[in-house]
Amino acid sequence: MEDLVEKYERYVMPTYARQPVAFTRGEGCYLYDADGNAYLDFVTGLSVNNLGHCHPAVVAAIREQAARLSHTSNLYYTEPAAELARLVSENSLGGKVFFSNSGAEANECAIKLARKHGRDTGGEGKHRIIALEGGFHGRTLATLTATAQPEKQEPFRPLLSGFTYVPRNDVAALESAMDDDVCAVLVEPVQGEGGVYPVTREFAAAARGLCDRHGALLVFDEVQTGLGRTGKLFAYQHTDVTPDVMTLAKSLGGGLPIGATVAAPTYADVLTAGLHGSTFGGGPVAAAAGVAVFEQLLAPGFLEQVVARGDYLRQRLDELAAATEAVVEVRGLGLMAALELAEEKAAALVSAALAERIILNNTSPATVRFLPPLIVEEGMIDRVVEFVQAFLEEEDS
Ligand SMILES: Cc1ncc(COP(=O)(O)O)c(C=O)c1O
Repeated sequence: MEDLVEKYERYVMPTYARQPVAFTRGEGCYLYDADGNAYLDFVTGLSVNNLGHCHPAVVAAIREQAARLSHTSNLYYTEPAAELARLVSENSLGGKVFFSNSGAEANECAIKLARKHGRDTGGEGKHRIIALEGGFHGRTLATLTATAQPEKQEPFRPLLSGFTYVPRNDVAALESAMDDDVCAVLVEPVQGEGGVYPVTREFAAAARGLCDRHGALLVFDEVQTGLGRTGKLFAYQHTDVTPDVMTLAKSLGGGLPIGATVAAPTYADVLTAGLHGSTFGGGPVAAAAGVAVFEQLLAPGFLEQVVARGDYLRQRLDELAAATEAVVEVRGLGLMAALELAEEKAAALVSAALAERIILNNTSPATVRFLPPLIVEEGMIDRVVEFVQAFLEEEDS
């Protein structure tokens, strides 16, 4: 472990505050270190390994495809990308898909699509994008500009022009920010990195109505919420609206990098040949993994089980909150949940959890986030909630 840390310190840019552990293997809901210790994973690679680590169907698809054809470039047709695009489209907006390699790239594509559509329909001036305060859309310059978190943006100014921000779930603020120069409103249906704040039905409906009135695209960033995390295939299905464009990444590749920008039929051909591209986007191996992931998600009863486990997690967290003043709020949807602590003890809780071989994450000094695998079992939820309760009681005494 010391050698590994030393190597990182010497050769890897210090962009992450890493936990003091190295994993060598994963299986189901557990990660293992080199000594074979099992860690219960309630982070799932930040909502990537949603089917659990090394799901046999995903591993088999990757193996088979890697041994047959791993890359051709997007100058040619390959079967896995076509099949994954069909699965995504037919189970969501019914339009067309652009594949990339990450959430940031999926959002970059959505931003470019919205700007192009704005220009096509309203001229050069129709390019403004409204995003929500506290949102997170990625680290590239355009997606960082869309990420209304000043401390992340400040060191990199000047950012892109033409972005404005409104507080999440503030319908009046959105109404007054909206105008005909807006080409898109960008929304995470549940803000993930911002601390697990679900969008209200009222806000989603207002955003839909305002986008329709002003000829703007409603873009949902489902990079973290997508593909079953909230108990529905896509989180927009919890609202009364359908977005025009939706972005996916994270769990789509079952652990391999892939991003997807999905446009409803009306906007499916806005980006034409030469306007956008990606060398690796939708490559055969990542796309084959995506097909295997999708087949698991669509298996009868799978999402029903996610709903049941999400309800159980919520019930246990609500009970915990009722039992202690150390918790001020429980938030979330499905298997995406957060506890807001009365004091800034979230980082200490994450460290203490690691010592107990439970993997948790905090999104802010007082916010603990839970992103268990979708295959989590009730006993695992009990173990984690009991640990959190014991930690908070001990801190209190
Ligand atoms: C909602 C959302 N959008 C975009 C991103 C960026 O994804 P990536 O890190 O794959 O670029 C993230 C990553 O956490 C995210 O949660």
